[in-house]
Amino acid sequence: MTFENILLDKDGAVARVTINRPDKMNALNHQTLSELGEAFDDVKGDTDIRALVITGTGDKAFVAGADIGELLEVAGQSEEAAKLAGFGQSVFRKLDELGKPSVAMVNGFALGGGCELALACTLRTASNTARLGLPEVSLGIIPGYGGSQRLSRIAGPGVAREWILTGDMVSAEEAHRVGVINRIFAPEDLEEGTAKLVKSMLSKGPLAIELGMQAILRGWDMTQSEGEQMETEFFGKASVTEDMAEGMAAFLEKRKASFQGK
Ligand code: COA
Repeated sequence: MTFENILLDKDGAVARVTINRPDKMNALNHQTLSELGEAFDDVKGDTDIRALVITGTGDKAFVAGADIGELLEVAGQSEEAAKLAGFGQSVFRKLDELGKPSVAMVNGFALGGGCELALACTLRTASNTARLGLPEVSLGIIPGYGGSQRLSRIAGPGVAREWILTGDMVSAEEAHRVGVINRIFAPEDLEEGTAKLVKSMLSKGPLAIELGMQAILRGWDMTQSEGEQMETEFFGKASVTEDMAEGMAAFLEKRKASFQGK
């Protein structure tokens, strides 16, 4: 597949999407969002791929937000603006439905829509030089690509209120401290550290990984008892897989499990 504003690479079981608009700090315009949607569909449908890493070209920006030039085009048009937000949300929601984990490798500024893209990923790693934030209020708007919902769920409403209502940028260290960033590295170790995190998930049962991801994600919209009901169903599903038999046998035989995703 060829794209104008992103790169899609595959190496073994891992796909990588790189947002590639370095002259615009990898800002997300409509074209880039469309291409991301296509790439996510491709990754979802590719049974050889078991994890996705998303990053930005260069060492300055992961993604510095929605393209402000395009945001200006919908200024004063409520319906058009809402449509743009809905479109961005629909693209990022594809990551929820990917069936495999995604990791945002935050290599620089992750602001506005870029921060929201990172929040839509299953996990986030960052360079200790990166800066994150939801500065939309500085432009007189609010996050529109799911950020006001996901940040609360990931780091709690206190953090979400602080980030969204001040619009302040925070350091990667601070984002790590409040649980937005899962693992933080020196810039030169970001690739290797991210690869290690991905490898750790790849070595586990793929069906169990998917069920675990879904249990947490769907649980966001459930009461504790509804969530526990779902958990029992998923536990039952996992318990009839070949992967479970293999995982148990490998433990007893003191060897590494060879999961087949069945
Ligand atoms: N949309 C469109 N273009 C953007 C952009 C965005 N979100 N973020 C950066 N760019 C462009 C700049 O306009 C500039 O283009 P130019 O060279 O044609 O003027 C180029 O990227 C480089 O950015 P610049 O501001 O010169 O770099 P910097 O190192 O001084 O600052 C940032 C970097 C990220 C702090 C700054 O660009 C910024 O604040 N960007 C906007 C962040 C934002 O508010 N995002 C939320 C949008 S909802």
